Amino acid sequence: MRTILTLATLLTCLSGNIKAGNNIRPGALWPDNRGIHINAHGGGILKRGKTFYWFGEHKADTTSAAMVGVTCYSSTDLANWTYRSVALSVSNEKDNDIERGCIIERPKVVYNAKTRRYVMWFHLELKGRGYAAARYGVAVANKPEGPYQYLYSSRSCPGIWPQDWAGSLDSTTYNAGRQIKWWTPEWRELIRKGLFVQRDYAQGQMARDQTVYVDDDGKAYHIFSSEDNLTLHIAELTDDYLHHTGRYWRMAPSGQNEAPTLFKYKGVYWMITSGCTGWAPNKARMFFAKRIQGPWTQVDNPCRGPKSDLTFGGQGTYILQIGTPKDPHFVFMADIWRPKQPSDARYIWLPITFEDGKPVIQWTDQWSIKP
Ligand code: DGJ
Repeated sequence: MRTILTLATLLTCLSGNIKAGNNIRPGALWPDNRGIHINAHGGGILKRGKTFYWFGEHKADTTSAAMVGVTCYSSTDLANWTYRSVALSVSNEKDNDIERGCIIERPKVVYNAKTRRYVMWFHLELKGRGYAAARYGVAVANKPEGPYQYLYSSRSCPGIWPQDWAGSLDSTTYNAGRQIKWWTPEWRELIRKGLFVQRDYAQGQMARDQTVYVDDDGKAYHIFSSEDNLTLHIAELTDDYLHHTGRYWRMAPSGQNEAPTLFKYKGVYWMITSGCTGWAPNKARMFFAKRIQGPWTQVDNPCRGPKSDLTFGGQGTYILQIGTPKDPHFVFMADIWRPKQPSDARYIWLPITFEDGKPVIQWTDQWSIKP
């Protein structure tokens, strides 16, 4: 009997059918190999060989602050995940940048073929300072699962103007602009012209919600919410992926975009973001561009189905490319935050399809994933 079953299972696998165990249930508890709900929020995925590595924020039961660090899970089928390690541990040292109790969000890991090292970028807020530091952090490892060695944190590109900079505001306009009431049309217009870029020029631009994108030519870009979350910045990375080169571009100035996620299909870059409503969900936004540097054009919300005006109750974190280079498929990954019990936050993974040439994310309670 056992032989027959094994043979049947083998035949099913060879015929390309997906195992029942490969089901993804958006919004449900997602147990790892130990039976514990996966704790890797605001995460991203790295593929090496046939193995996928999922990195994310470890969330405690009662606080969203980083009490543990960045966790790593691995899988070969994208549905069944094995807990691997705390890839980047918070520090026990007082005043260390990543001291336990700091905020570490939205970690993303990329592999650098030149240095053969794994590079982790994350949003870092220093302990006890709320979201004021607005820095990015960088850590590096020799193995995908780590341990990652923390390198440094910084604001972005101090003393450097963006590539698409139209020129500074004269001092009278700048000083008047700093006094203007926020959210008025005049103030928004000055934000578009770079009021906050100019404000932060010397100390460096703010870097909060973020992702990293490696393009087909191996060039990598760090995309993050800057200017008090009003404008996204797209910063080019050095060849070793460890620093910004100093070339950066502004995107959707004054548009208030968070949670940037990005993919490229048939030569077009698509970016799906959220609005800024803290842990509460809002409507996803979508943009496309022919060049990653822009110009970007905004199109409709890609979500369809219940709560599609609230990103199904979630907020994007990453777009995973699966399939083959010739026939790529994409998975939109989002978090349903639970600020009262952060560890219980849930995951939304949904396939991206195309309608009239535009990406669409249709809600479904359950679907089968195939790497
Ligand atoms: C929304 C962001 O996307 C999250 O990563 C987190 O920073 C929360 N805001 C905090 O309110």
